[in-house]
Amino acid sequence: MSAPAPVLGELLPALRTAIPGPRSEAWVDRLAARECPAITARRARRAAALGAAKDDPIVWAEAHGANVIDVDGNVFVDMTAGFGVAGVGHGHPAVVAAMQQQAGRLLHAMGDAFPDPRRIELMEALCARTGFDRVIFGSSGSDAVEAALKTARVATGRDGLLSFTGAYHGLSYGALAADGYKEADFRRPFAGQLGAHAQRALFGAPVDELRPLLAQVGAVLVEPIQGRGGVRVPPAGWLGALIDAAHEAGAVVIFDEIYTGMGRTGAWLRARQLDLAPDLVCLGKGLAGGYPISACLGTAAVMDAWGASKGEALHTQTFLGNPVGAAMALACLGVLDGVLPTVEAKGARLRRSLERAGYGVQGAGLLLGVRLDDTLRASRALMERGFLVLPAGELAEVLALTPPLTVREAQLDAFVEALVAVAPPGTRA
Ligand SMILES: Cc1ncc(COP(=O)(O)O)c(C=O)c1O
Repeated sequence: MSAPAPVLGELLPALRTAIPGPRSEAWVDRLAARECPAITARRARRAAALGAAKDDPIVWAEAHGANVIDVDGNVFVDMTAGFGVAGVGHGHPAVVAAMQQQAGRLLHAMGDAFPDPRRIELMEALCARTGFDRVIFGSSGSDAVEAALKTARVATGRDGLLSFTGAYHGLSYGALAADGYKEADFRRPFAGQLGAHAQRALFGAPVDELRPLLAQVGAVLVEPIQGRGGVRVPPAGWLGALIDAAHEAGAVVIFDEIYTGMGRTGAWLRARQLDLAPDLVCLGKGLAGGYPISACLGTAAVMDAWGASKGEALHTQTFLGNPVGAAMALACLGVLDGVLPTVEAKGARLRRSLERAGYGVQGAGLLLGVRLDDTLRASRALMERGFLVLPAGELAEVLALTPPLTVREAQLDAFVEALVAVAPPGTRA
């Protein structure tokens, strides 16, 4: 019997050129001429320090399942799922079909003025799966955070906000005010424009020490596992105690599940996996598998504090609940209904094989961080072997692994083998 033909999306790496290849380099030269220089890292200086000729990014041409194909025809395994967006895999056929069908029917409805059926169906589907009652849509993760922060202000009448060191909630001003990640780089240049309402406490600090702060704030904003901050899992029981103490103090609790939600840790929400009941939850990234749509979900008790619209929405945006994004998100939910039950076991298997190889691993489900001495060098070396990964943490102390939830075990096994080759545990990468 002949072996089954390889399936695009399930392929192992296949490289045809040096990385980055000549076409990627030519595109990046054009990019560098036009893009604000602070956006895409060209990394040439760092590459020189590493002894490499160049360390530019590859330029993506296509992506399917767990595979990315660059403009030089090199096939990679994407261990980032495109920043956690492609939870169902890149270009999932059901999501693409939903997009095409909806695009042929209704590309745009009118935010708060004229709704459309897909937006309404998506609100119902999200509430059914998460146990929340009300929804505000947005276009980016930071939009969802802003909607939650405003809702907490409306519900409590209190300006104060407590967030945590290492937290990443996005870069729009409201979210940035709450960020505790690389403060010197991200916050300091804008500190004078961020208001004095936001305070940060140590992530995982004993809850009793937080009580005086909680009495001053209307909102507590927390990632149940810090993603960009380094895949940091708080101490067991901490999140529950934080919710209880915040509620006792009259504050609303917002879980930013933009990274952890939509199945990443093996449940619709990390909150539900831990049997916790925050008042508001933010979703983004994997919500629609590749379309910029996000959602703030809330209890009726908190969301209804807004009161009924008096004719002009007090919180809205032009693309609110866009029908194409909503149709894609509905398709994603359908796919994830089947995928979700497999995530914990797949994550546990990956974690075991990393630990067996000798690495320190943290995280949950398929949101894992591998502790390494030099994640920058390791991520570069892995890209040269056809695996895309991102460093995470204040000091880039972990390699973040967030592959598509549909990734094949053979792809994960090949990744571990490549990691051992480029950054053996216990040695400098
Ligand atoms: C936990 C968390 N919150 C918020 C955001 C911001 O989302 P966006 O970049 O879509 O605004 C991110 C992005 O990485 C995130 O990881």
